Amino acid sequence: MEKREITMSSWSPEQRQSPGGLNLHISRTLFLLLLFVASIKGVTPKPNACLLFQSDNGSSIYCHPPAKPIRYLPADTIYLAVEFFNLTQLPADTLQGASKLEELHLSGNRLENLSAELLLPVPGLKVLDLTGNALTRLPSGLFKVSVSLHTLVLKQNQLEALEASWLHGLKALEHLDLSGNYLRTLPPGLLANFAALRILDLSDNRLETLPPDLLRGPLHLARLHLENNRLRALGEELLAPQPELHYLFLSNNKLATVAAGTFHGLQQLDMLDLANNLLTSVPKGLWTSLGQPTRDMKDGFDISGNPWICDQNLDDLYQWLVANKDKMFFLNDTCCAGPEALKGQTLLAAAGAH
Ligand SMILES: *[C@@H]1O[C@H](CO)[C@@H](O)[C@H](O)[C@H]1NC(C)=O
Ligand SMILES: *[C@@H]1O[C@H](CO)[C@@H](O)[C@H](O)[C@H]1NC(C)=O
Ligand SMILES: *[C@@H]1O[C@H](CO)[C@@H](O)[C@H](O)[C@H]1NC(C)=O
Ligand SMILES: *[C@@H]1O[C@H](CO)[C@@H](O)[C@H](O)[C@H]1NC(C)=O
Repeated sequence: MEKREITMSSWSPEQRQSPGGLNLHISRTLFLLLLFVASIKGVTPKPNACLLFQSDNGSSIYCHPPAKPIRYLPADTIYLAVEFFNLTQLPADTLQGASKLEELHLSGNRLENLSAELLLPVPGLKVLDLTGNALTRLPSGLFKVSVSLHTLVLKQNQLEALEASWLHGLKALEHLDLSGNYLRTLPPGLLANFAALRILDLSDNRLETLPPDLLRGPLHLARLHLENNRLRALGEELLAPQPELHYLFLSNNKLATVAAGTFHGLQQLDMLDLANNLLTSVPKGLWTSLGQPTRDMKDGFDISGNPWICDQNLDDLYQWLVANKDKMFFLNDTCCAGPEALKGQTLLAAAGAH
């Protein structure tokens, strides 16, 4: 079996300052022993060693504190987790020799950037999870050879802006999670090459607007998370190219304007969450395409927490509500903010009185 040493100091600069007596070297014999024990028992006997599992498909390695990050990657490693170590940097050659790697989990560290060469040895990588690091950017070319990567999780980092070039090379991406960052805008063309994208999570950012062509690339988007941002308006074009969208999350934004045709392209919507926005009214025709027998909104909709003005401008919505009220969440929190005479009344009661 081929092995490679990753020096402790390169994995964790913090440890470098306290070398006294820390013998972190796992001998080749012990390593093989661990592999052997892990393969028969599924666990390692030593609390400060990484867990190693072997199957016909290859080795899977799980490193969590108090274990020390592993220093040898078997050549047949298909799964590597090095999580919650507060690592600030990864050496560029960390994955050298692990050419079969399919999943890399690095959540709960403090990585601020990555080397552009990091993923070059692992063209078969399918999943990269960087949840909960301190990334402010990615190097251009990081994904140059990542043609198999289908899941990229950058949740809870410190990204304030993205550059489309950071994601160049990804062709098979199905799930992109950028939630929990500080994004204010997105660059045009960001998703242009991601025809296979199924799940896009942009929730918990600071997005005020979206490029109108954001979703022109994906052809099969099924879930779109935009909740907890600062969006003020939704334009007609944004969702038009998404006939397979099933779940649309828009709660906790500042939406005051939704264009009449916004939802017309959504032929299979199962759930719509518009709660806690600034909607006072909606244009005629907005709802007509939703909740029809073939698009039955089976998992419900939520329009609560908006300052609805219950006048004749809502006639269109009233009709739709009455027909679809069994799918409505938080009926009692979906209230009129005006006119004065109807303040506090539920929208459904206002609809019934109409
Ligand atoms: C090996 O890979 C195959 C195909 O990806 C998968 O179905 C199987 O569950 C894997 N076996 C193990 C033990 O992980
Ligand atoms: C990582 O940092 C946190 C917060 O400072 C600390 O509580 C934790 O023990 C650290 N973990 C390791 C493995 O050093
Ligand atoms: C990350 O950024 C720091 C500070 O700019 C730099 O010293 C370091 O070399 C970078 N590391 C990588 C892997 O690019
Ligand atoms: C909503 O209000 C109605 C009428 O006041 C009441 O009967 C019902 O229990 C309330 N539902 C909830 C979930 O609070």
